[in-house]
Amino acid sequence: MSLADIAILKEGKVWMLIKGGDKLKVLVTGGAGFIGSHVVEELLNHQYEVVIVDSFVTGFPENVCVDAKLYRRDITDLELEDVFKLEKPDFVLHLAAQASVITSTNDPYLDFFTNTVGTVRVSLLSKKYNVKKIIFASTAAVYDEPSYLPIDEKHPLKQQSYYALSKYSAENFILLSGVMQDLNYCILRFSNVYGPRQNAEGEAGVISIFINRLLKNDEIYIYGGSQTRDFIYVKDVAAACHLAMVGKQKGVYNISSCTETTINQLFQLISSEMDVISIPVYKSLRVGEIVQSVLDHTKALQELEWRLHYSLVDGLKETVQYYSRNKVKHLGNFITSS
Ligand SMILES: NC(=O)c1ccc[n+]([C@@H]2O[C@H](COP(=O)([O-])OP(=O)(O)OC[C@H]3O[C@@H](n4cnc5c(N)ncnc54)[C@H](O)[C@@H]3O)[C@@H](O)[C@H]2O)c1
Repeated sequence: MSLADIAILKEGKVWMLIKGGDKLKVLVTGGAGFIGSHVVEELLNHQYEVVIVDSFVTGFPENVCVDAKLYRRDITDLELEDVFKLEKPDFVLHLAAQASVITSTNDPYLDFFTNTVGTVRVSLLSKKYNVKKIIFASTAAVYDEPSYLPIDEKHPLKQQSYYALSKYSAENFILLSGVMQDLNYCILRFSNVYGPRQNAEGEAGVISIFINRLLKNDEIYIYGGSQTRDFIYVKDVAAACHLAMVGKQKGVYNISSCTETTINQLFQLISSEMDVISIPVYKSLRVGEIVQSVLDHTKALQELEWRLHYSLVDGLKETVQYYSRNKVKHLGNFITSS
């Protein structure tokens, strides 16, 4: 951060940064996607100037906030450099990715090219154009089957999908660039993110799938049911991205609720929020599926001064409201339950 930058404090915490009187500019890759669009909103709420790069491969134009500037670009294209040259962003929040495990299995080349090579490009350009800090959206998938719970950042890493491998490789490139090029970064490993605008093929798609099937009166399939997941509301994730960006720390952080919820409990919570009675069809747990998962977020609480603002019940309430309002738009979008 240069001397010309001023930190504006609100309730003792950094609320926004001003560069010599001007707004600081943030480039958000994947800003038309589920999480990226909430990150854009969070940044605009904090008065940053926001530039989005998105290829719309899984993002949607209607997710793009009118107050942000949009470049339709692929992060793996050479033309990405034009955006850095023209916009000279102060920060980069890198969320663009091939985020589906299923797609990574079907097309490992696309997955690796987008997630690893794409991240290499974004990181190198960030360094070349003097970006103050890059925040990389990584995933709990890099840990795989836990050897202890809750999983902290020191937990051994083991990848069981091409998606996890491509994210892990991208993490390693950033970590090494931190050493070799003094790249300033934070790597955020998200647990299962949910909330409005989620694509039902996403990693935490189970919540949007349950809600939308219940809205359609469709049958609900539960594979197993007693397996646990760590669901985090997307607005809490967006806040973590902002705090990681303005904070002094450089490192790897779990961003999670640190709460285990079984799929059965989740189904009950959603049914009760929607005030519907539905008897799910039970099927056996899918082969290779992780039985228990919960991430320790203590490091993020202590070092980023991040706090959870949404309980699962609060987050589900907003999510159900969103899908109920947008029922027509989302019906028919959903392929499977998990
Ligand atoms: N959703 C989750 O539960 C979860 C959990 C852990 C990590 N993550 C990570 O968070 C990030 C956002 O995930 P999401 O759930 O919002 O997914 P998403 O698919 O909704 O968003 C990804 C965005 O990136 C864009 N994109 C994809 N490839 C691109 C390319 N080559 N060039 C430019 N833009 C491209 C897509 O169009 C989309 O707008 C991803 O990096 C994902 O790996 C998500």
